[in-house]
Amino acid sequence: MWPDLIQKSKDGGLDVIETYVFWNLHEPVRRQYDFKGRNDLVKFVKTVAEAGLYVHLRIGPYVCAEWNYGGFPLWLHFIPGIQFRTDNGPFKEEMQIFTAKIVDMMKKENLYASQGGPIILSQIENEYGNIDSAYGSAAKSYIQWAASMATSLDTGVPWVMCQQADAPDPMINTCNGFYCDQFTPNSVKKPKMWTENWTGWFLSFGGAAPYRPVEDIAFAVARFFQLGGTFQNYYMYHGGTNFGRTTGGPFIATSYDYDAPIDEYGLLRQPKWGHLKDLHKAIKLCEAALIATDPTITSLGTNLEASVYKTGTGSCAAFLANVRTNSDATVNFSGNSYHLPAWSVSILPDCKNVALNTAQINSMAVMPRFMQQSLKNDIDSSDGFQSGWSWVDEPVGISKNNAFTKLGLLEQINVTADKSDYLWYSLSTEIQGDEPFLEDGSQTVLHVESLGHALHAFINGKLAGSGTGNSGNAKVTEDIPVTLIHGKNTIDLLSLTVGLQNYGAFYDKQGAGITGPVKLKGLANGTTVDLSSQQWTYQVGLQGEELGLPSGSSSKWVSGSTLPKKQPLIWYKTTFDAPAGNDPVALHFIGMGKGEAWVNGQSIGRYWPAYVSSNSGCTSSCDYRGPYNSNKCLKNCGKPSQQL
Ligand code: GAL
Repeated sequence: MWPDLIQKSKDGGLDVIETYVFWNLHEPVRRQYDFKGRNDLVKFVKTVAEAGLYVHLRIGPYVCAEWNYGGFPLWLHFIPGIQFRTDNGPFKEEMQIFTAKIVDMMKKENLYASQGGPIILSQIENEYGNIDSAYGSAAKSYIQWAASMATSLDTGVPWVMCQQADAPDPMINTCNGFYCDQFTPNSVKKPKMWTENWTGWFLSFGGAAPYRPVEDIAFAVARFFQLGGTFQNYYMYHGGTNFGRTTGGPFIATSYDYDAPIDEYGLLRQPKWGHLKDLHKAIKLCEAALIATDPTITSLGTNLEASVYKTGTGSCAAFLANVRTNSDATVNFSGNSYHLPAWSVSILPDCKNVALNTAQINSMAVMPRFMQQSLKNDIDSSDGFQSGWSWVDEPVGISKNNAFTKLGLLEQINVTADKSDYLWYSLSTEIQGDEPFLEDGSQTVLHVESLGHALHAFINGKLAGSGTGNSGNAKVTEDIPVTLIHGKNTIDLLSLTVGLQNYGAFYDKQGAGITGPVKLKGLANGTTVDLSSQQWTYQVGLQGEELGLPSGSSSKWVSGSTLPKKQPLIWYKTTFDAPAGNDPVALHFIGMGKGEAWVNGQSIGRYWPAYVSSNSGCTSSCDYRGPYNSNKCLKNCGKPSQQL
């Protein structure tokens, strides 16, 4: 898809493709690198160059990006004495090795602009300034080290640090946000640059779908160039799909559509793409004046502002802004009168004629639609034809021989190293009397506290209850009424992660899993038993994962006349014919609960249509006027966050 996506970006008027570099993709195992296929970074950079565009390589290697663990490989966490993103020897050593490795690869292929290649910028760290106060004085020395480490790699092109007001020279500090017109870099020698202009926002499981009106994006871009901006990058211009288990979290959805100008499937999102294309054209008509001089800014009235870029050689470009949130205005500028809708900028490449007003969309809105095609063996098809399906039951509790026992409750990521989303916590406990009900009629309750992200509790092999956190609070606390039997009872708790934390100070230490307490409350004799420090048995991952069920092979698949439905733990398999042609194909998961899906053995990501967003917070239309934030414009309330 790369050449097509890059061409669509170029056609949309972009000059530079900005990409992160994902450490955990390229070094999944320490010193074992992967630059093949989708991970072929050199090929990507060359593909951009072939289209005649430039590259901004955001190495990080911390990247945030709603990406699992912010892009850090899990092995990093297990290095003795390591502290992430601070003045720490083991961390700095690994960060330097990886950064140098990437820079060397680029240099060997002559990919830096200093060598005649397309890379005009690279980035070190990512928005560290947003959270660095939590790291105390070590933050300062770390960022100084990062700056000199990057500089020493001698790329011949500038480095940027985004959201880093104290970025040491020669690092250029840049801005990320919905608006960056008011931003100024920390030295007059540094250009004003915007590394992330958020075109929408990311989707979480359990959340509604954020979108950002293009009139507001265009306004923000025009304001930026009106006030001396030089480089502006959309985040995302194309976000695509976070296949496999690459999404961060917790609870980041598989779709990273982002309401971007090129949608998840690589199709143009109109009128967003088209209006921004028109905007880029209008701004580029001003190029001669913009690059030659600084603007002269004058007021045309309250919240009405003119910028004029005028050169000695006769070029003149002007931007007229109405920053009012709800009242249109007519202004006089250079003897002419101009109508300015609220929250808009008019661009005058010759200081006289309006090439574009950011609030006026001329681009056509064509919405692509999916053609639905049922699987010939649709589970719910009316003819009840189910013979195309087979299944494997996933056993409840310990079933693999990698199980081990430990006193007490363990944090999940330390145990699984993120090899799987799943960790079983199992325990047998002896109950003296019959426990169905207390004399007062109340039932025994299993109390479980977890750092998240979701859990299922089974008593004696039967599902007793489930719980899930949400993107605002990953923790799960459940009180589950249970029925115990006389004698031995088995408690099997299945804890699930849904993408590892990718943002925040010390995000790597947030942890997950059932760290307790776990208690049985209100036993017949009126007591509460704290099970937290008992001997638990642990199993990382599911049996089906070990058996390689995702590949589709295995002798375990069974089929029969009735397909088991509404099972807590089950694997399903079917086959289908791909539709003809090259159009994007999506699978519709409505009716499914939560899980992960594979097509031809490749994980297409987690699905969770059973997680429905709240009914409130959406509006039928969203006024683009006035400051945008990620909660301002939401759609899809009360519906599954992601179905496709
Ligand atoms: C920024 C970050 C990006 C991405 C974005 C939200 O703070 O630099 O990597 O996470 O937020 O989509």
